[in-house]
Amino acid sequence: MSVLINGKELAKEIRLELKEKVEKENLSPMLAVILCGDDAASKVYVRNKSKACDEVGIKFKEYLLPSETKQEELLSLIDKLNNDSEVDGILLQSPIPKGLNIEEAFARISPEKDVDGFNPYNVGKLVIGEDGFIPCTPYGIMKMFEKYNIDLHGKKAVVIGRSNIVGKPTAQCLLSKNATVTICHSKTKDLKEELKEADVIVAAVGVRALVKADMVKDGVVVIDVGMNRNDEGKLCGDVDFEEVSKKASYITPVPGGVGPMTIAMLMNNVVKAHIQRNHKR
Ligand code: GUN
Repeated sequence: MSVLINGKELAKEIRLELKEKVEKENLSPMLAVILCGDDAASKVYVRNKSKACDEVGIKFKEYLLPSETKQEELLSLIDKLNNDSEVDGILLQSPIPKGLNIEEAFARISPEKDVDGFNPYNVGKLVIGEDGFIPCTPYGIMKMFEKYNIDLHGKKAVVIGRSNIVGKPTAQCLLSKNATVTICHSKTKDLKEELKEADVIVAAVGVRALVKADMVKDGVVVIDVGMNRNDEGKLCGDVDFEEVSKKASYITPVPGGVGPMTIAMLMNNVVKAHIQRNHKR
C-alpha cells in the first residue's frame, strides 16, 4: 500500500503560515481576479480562491466580464490593474471565451503582479532557473515532494500533458531538481512504454483513469492533477486510484491532493508579490 500525499492538510499548513506572516508583519496584500464569460468550473475555482484569500488575510477583488467582452476591453482592465498601486497580484482565470487571445492577455499582466507565472517573462525566468513567479500547480506539486522528502535527483519522471499551465512548467520544475524528464501528450505513440520505467509520474491531461496499474512499476510516485467526473458525477483524476495505489509508494488523491495546493501556492505568490512591491516603493 502507498502513502497518501495529503494535499488538503499541507495546503492548510501553508495557508496558516501565510496568515501568521501577514498578521505579524502587518501586510496588506491584494489579489485581483478577472473572470471572463460563464464557465461553471471557473466560477467554483474563483470562489475557492476568494475563500482562501479571506482565510489568509488577502484582500480580494473580483472583476466579472461578460462573454461578449472584446480583447481591447480585457487588455484595458489589465492595464488599469497594472497601474493600481493597491493591487499586488492579477489573475486572469482560464479558460476565457473563444475569440479572445489569452496569451496576449497573460503577456499584458505586469511581471511583478503575475502571480500565476504565465507572463513570458516569468516563464523565461523559470526556464533559466532565476527567481520569478512559478505557476501555482507545479509549485504546489514541488512542495509536496519537499514535504514528503521525495528526492528527484537522477529519477526518471514522466509528465503526461503539455499545457502551458501545468505540463510544461511541471517538467521544467522537475528538471531543475535534476530529474530526467519525459513529456507525453496526445501524439505520444506508446504511453505504456514511456511509463513503465518511470520513478515519478505526473498526470495532467484530463482523461479519467488513463493511468492503469499495468502501466506503472512498483514503488512509483504518482501525482494526479486530473479533475474529471465519473459516471456518478464524483470528482476523479487521471489515474485509476484504486488499482495504482496498490503499487505506488506515494500517491495523491483526487479530491484533496493537488487542487488545494494550487490555491495555497497562489496565496504564497500574492504575499510574495506584495512584499517585493513594497520593497521597491
Ligand atoms: N484555470 C485552471 N487552472 C488555472 C490556474 O492555475 N490559473 C488560472 N488563471 N486559470 C486556471
